[in-house]
Amino acid sequence: MTRHFLRDDDLSPAEQSEVLELAARLKREPFSERPLEGPRSVAIFFDKTSTRTRFSFAAGTAELGGQPIIVNPGEAQLGAKESISDTAKVLSRMVAAIVWRTYDHAGLEEMAGSATVPVINSLSDDFHPCQILADLQTIREQKGELKGLVATYVGDAANNMGHSYLLGFATAGMHIRVAGPEGYHPRADIIEDARRIAAETGGSVELFTDPAEGVRGADVVITDTWVSMGQEAEKAARISTFAAYRVTPELMSEAKPDAIFLHCLPAYREYEVAPEVIDGPQSVVWDEAENRVHAQKALMAWLLAQG
Ligand code: CP
Ligand code: NVA
Repeated sequence: MTRHFLRDDDLSPAEQSEVLELAARLKREPFSERPLEGPRSVAIFFDKTSTRTRFSFAAGTAELGGQPIIVNPGEAQLGAKESISDTAKVLSRMVAAIVWRTYDHAGLEEMAGSATVPVINSLSDDFHPCQILADLQTIREQKGELKGLVATYVGDAANNMGHSYLLGFATAGMHIRVAGPEGYHPRADIIEDARRIAAETGGSVELFTDPAEGVRGADVVITDTWVSMGQEAEKAARISTFAAYRVTPELMSEAKPDAIFLHCLPAYREYEVAPEVIDGPQSVVWDEAENRVHAQKALMAWLLAQG
């Protein structure tokens, strides 16, 4: 059966660990897996802007022996003139996989419902699971093991990153904490799903409103933009809502002395993170960005191997 990757919990704990193992190997031996040799093509759609996702999927597809076909907004019939399911059926006859960055997560589910090749979510309003694989690879490189580590995500815990950290880190057996203002905590059904997964993996899920309390004793501190793509009209209000959640050296000092800092990027140094943190010695954001390539190559190779 065709496997898709729309949310972090589409991979079981054992499967996630296999993908991360493969990602580590592909980082050491970049051309050791060639499932797209031919070259076969990968369709990569963007309804929102992107730097890392665009380059990492294009470079990664080429490194797996294939070729990327990148489609920017307004260039395909998708959504506007042709249904998502008809598009999925047509593309399944032409390409090896479909990667899509979009707004409404339901569109991805519709695509996966009709596609006979893997569909990969490269960011929706609800989840950004490819980013989480790269984050997990980065944390593993720094800390050796994921199980049992405490990671705190500070800021807009109701956004795609907040949701994906809950599901993806619980899957890895980590203790995931989020610290965000009242009204900006993850969706209730996702908290419930993450808690169910954590009960199985030995992890846990905790919610905080006080950033210092949330970060206390953490191994990993993470933040993201306060204004996600599509929320630009709310910018002024959001900047005041999240002002107390800026990751500063003072906030970092609440974490363990050897804590690392992650940010999926792009970063806004005047808002969610101070330059001293993101450009300082605890930051691993450039490794994290690079690992998008390795993690997504591993994901594509793994999905294609499932048949
Ligand atoms: N982190 C991330 O997905 O970056 P882009 O929006 O540049 O792809
Ligand atoms: N939460 C951000 C992530 C960007 C990679 C957004 O959706 O814009």
